[in-house]
Amino acid sequence: MLQFQRHRRLRQSANMRALVRETYLHKEDFIYPVFVLDGENVKNEVPSMPGVYQMSLDVLKEDIAEAVALGIKSVIVFGLPAEKDEVGSEAFCEHGIVQKAIHQIKGAHPELVVVADTCLCQYTSHGHCGTIENGIIQNDESLTLLAKTAVSQAKAGADIIAPSNMMDGFVSAIRGALDEAGFSHVPVMSYAVKYSSAFYGPFRDAAKGAPQFGDRKTYQMDPANRIEAMREAESDVVEGADFLMVKPALSYLDIIRDVKNNFSVPVVAYNVSGEYSMIKAAAQNGWINEKDMVLEMLTSMKRAGADLIITYHAKDAARWLDEGG
Ligand code: PBG
Ligand code: ZN
Repeated sequence: MLQFQRHRRLRQSANMRALVRETYLHKEDFIYPVFVLDGENVKNEVPSMPGVYQMSLDVLKEDIAEAVALGIKSVIVFGLPAEKDEVGSEAFCEHGIVQKAIHQIKGAHPELVVVADTCLCQYTSHGHCGTIENGIIQNDESLTLLAKTAVSQAKAGADIIAPSNMMDGFVSAIRGALDEAGFSHVPVMSYAVKYSSAFYGPFRDAAKGAPQFGDRKTYQMDPANRIEAMREAESDVVEGADFLMVKPALSYLDIIRDVKNNFSVPVVAYNVSGEYSMIKAAAQNGWINEKDMVLEMLTSMKRAGADLIITYHAKDAARWLDEGG
């Protein structure tokens, strides 16, 4: 008699498949990104990211209320300052746009977990994630400003500080500054493994944070490297990171799995702008089934080992999960 295994036994009905399903998406997995700017009644759709808006605080209020009503538990806030300068002063200004946004969100929804992206690139005139001397991005000087930014965000009410600038020692600098300022209870979600990626293109339209000269290759990682990702993750854990992020997500599922297997802190995947825009463009052309493809992609990130996913699809995904996925 022919010998083979009958795998299809476990796939014969929806309920049988549900019994053996290994990975589930939950609304609790999602962190919803928002872009805020000054003004009133401003709601600019980002051309390269249909469905994503730059919002003034009054519009943000409604958008956040909608996200909360959909069951979203966490948001990450990006600011577009009115003025940029050499050192990114508005990043750490007490009344900066992000500080105002965080304060407003926490006032309306104290239970919502507000994550602050901590970087300088949206705030600097040159668009780099640190300060510059003779055309070179300065590591240690940038840390001082980054730590100031983190403390100002914690003062505004941020529940989690998420540094994304990829300077060496940023977790240690921020942890120390937070502790000293009385915020030892505020966790650090490190963008530990952040690649220098073409997938950030649409975000740089959304946040107006493109570098004005050169690129980010002296601080963000080379997409070809896997072992180096472990060094980045390890140093951040040693420095006190409470979460480790891998970014982008879709082309880096192997890295997400490596981080999950090698470290014991929660792993965050950033489903970045370019990943979102590709789906949106194909959906608008009628070439794909958007809902099925988004849920499949988000599921793949969890299967790879992500505990949390920062995603522009968060509100749509929450709706689709309500409909039964
Ligand atoms: C800034 C920052 C970037 C993203 C998040 N924070 C862009 C960059 O590093 O150039 C990318 C997010 C996305 O593409 O969705 N440090
Ligand atoms: Zn940056």
